[in-house]
Amino acid sequence: MERTFIMIKPDGVERKLVGEIIGRIEKKGFNITRAKLFQPSRELVEEHYIEHREKPFFEEIVDYITRGPVMAMEVEGESAIEVMRQMIGSTDPKKALPGTIRGDLAYSLTENIIHGSDSKESAERELKLWFG
Ligand code: TYD
Ligand code: MG
Repeated sequence: MERTFIMIKPDGVERKLVGEIIGRIEKKGFNITRAKLFQPSRELVEEHYIEHREKPFFEEIVDYITRGPVMAMEVEGESAIEVMRQMIGSTDPKKALPGTIRGDLAYSLTENIIHGSDSKESAERELKLWFG
């Protein structure tokens, strides 16, 4: 069993897509083992996206993720990290395949609706950061 960090970003909450996204995760057979809906601080989001701090889009993504509540989740299942990344789809929703969460539900590169950890190390770091 593997655990990954999944976050429905503010546009997903604003657009009332939390149920749709959780439904997909549950139907796949994964367990949601921890979850919290809250508006994250800048400090938390800056730490979350620390790998991107030098990128031109850093300020924009921090503004976006902190603008309203997000649904932060721990998702558990076999190969959950890789399988969730496949279910999420490509970073740019315009390139994400139909059938993926971003392919079906998003169209903006910045506002791409959902985050999923990209490796075991990221999952461990992000779960600790968001849930302690
Ligand atoms: P990244 O970690 O590369 O993508 P992913 O979320 O698929 O792991 O980037 C983090 C977020 O930054 C991404 O979800 C959307 C945003 N972003 C931009 O706004 N512009 C960009 O050019 C890139 C690469 C990402
Ligand atoms: Mg990433």
